[in-house]
Amino acid sequence: MIKRILVTGGAGFIGANFILDWFMANPDSVVVNLDKLTYAANPNNLKSIHNNPRYQLVRGDIGDRVLVAELLNKYQPQIIVNFAAESHVDRSIHGPEAFMQTNVMGTFYLLESTRQYWLSLSASEQIAFRFLHVSTDEVYGSLTPNDPAFTETTAYAPNSPYSASKAASDHLVRAWHHTYGLPVVTTNCSNNYGALQFPEKLIPLIILNALDGKALPVYGDGLNVRDWLYVADHCSAIRRVLSHGQIGQTYNIGGANELSNIDVVRQICQLLDELRPRGDGLSYAQQITFVADRLGHDRRYAINAEKMVDELGWRPEETFSTGLRKTVQWYLDNPVWVNEVRSGDYRQWLTMNYGEKKE
Ligand code: NAD
Ligand code: TYD
Repeated sequence: MIKRILVTGGAGFIGANFILDWFMANPDSVVVNLDKLTYAANPNNLKSIHNNPRYQLVRGDIGDRVLVAELLNKYQPQIIVNFAAESHVDRSIHGPEAFMQTNVMGTFYLLESTRQYWLSLSASEQIAFRFLHVSTDEVYGSLTPNDPAFTETTAYAPNSPYSASKAASDHLVRAWHHTYGLPVVTTNCSNNYGALQFPEKLIPLIILNALDGKALPVYGDGLNVRDWLYVADHCSAIRRVLSHGQIGQTYNIGGANELSNIDVVRQICQLLDELRPRGDGLSYAQQITFVADRLGHDRRYAINAEKMVDELGWRPEETFSTGLRKTVQWYLDNPVWVNEVRSGDYRQWLTMNYGEKKE
């Protein structure tokens, strides 16, 4: 049977990687990508499938109930994967409203539109239908160095406007299952990295600043810890949850790659020293600059992904060193993509965020 899938936020970093990965695994599928095309989106992320008659990009908001109802009735998806979100913690500190609009209200409206559509399906279609909500480990809050990693039963304790808005959306998804029986699954993933990531996030920002000869800004003491997962491994995990996950369950996804930020930055510098050495023979590490810390900066995230491994048989393919090498190489190989995303908005963002953070 041909699969029909609605992906929201599919022109962003993970969504675009997911759509490309999905077509590789399910070439006969019909994929509709509903994306508002905010600053974080780049439709060229999906240039390779623009002419595929089974792929459709629709510009629009997950909170637009008329549009979403039209799309659901027209394309009759059996699966919805919700990536659409405002996703950057620093931006949520400067301007939380968009996070509440999209992540909280947008998810609410999308759930309501989905519920109306789901009720119109036959009993067997209703059983087969899935709404997969893509969330983050940040909803669990911050760990001390000796705390055990987050499991699916760790209490929610979000600390930033971003993580609070994602936590709210997770609660809505849970409630729409519990109250209305909507067949949902939620995934909580650790920090992703890889091709197509907008250079406001740590890894692409450091790669591009290094190549531009700019400062490599490390917040605070650089010892905050994140648990990194290569984006292709996140995509394979989502496919696994769609095919084998239990309705109403949540799944933590992570690669068991806990690293301090300063270690990540140093590893990027080493790779660039090897792959694109500086003209003066010095290391890119010379450009590392400690800057003022992020407000409310969570100290440590770590994901326990045993449920994914034990119950669903999923495992990541990349280690941090293989994934990071691929990522650095991708940014070196794609200067056209890099120049396209460096819009006026991006330059303004750098001035606002890093202007304030000068030591
Ligand atoms: P991103 O910012 O790169 O992409 C988000 C996409 O959503 C963009 O294409 C944007 O245009 C779209 N969008 C925003 N508001 C919308 C709206 N109202 N309607 C429709 N589309 C809208 O984000 P990402 O890094 O790809 O993250 C995708 C999802 O994964 C998010 O839900 C995020 O919370 C979650 N997540 C991200 C990470 C990470 O490390 N990046 C880790 C775990 C979970
Ligand atoms: P980021 O990529 O924004 O992801 P998140 O905040 O969702 O974890 O940041 C990853 C880590 O890197 C986080 O601890 C903040 C830190 N960081 C810096 O030190 N410098 C920077 O310029 C950025 C963007 C992040």
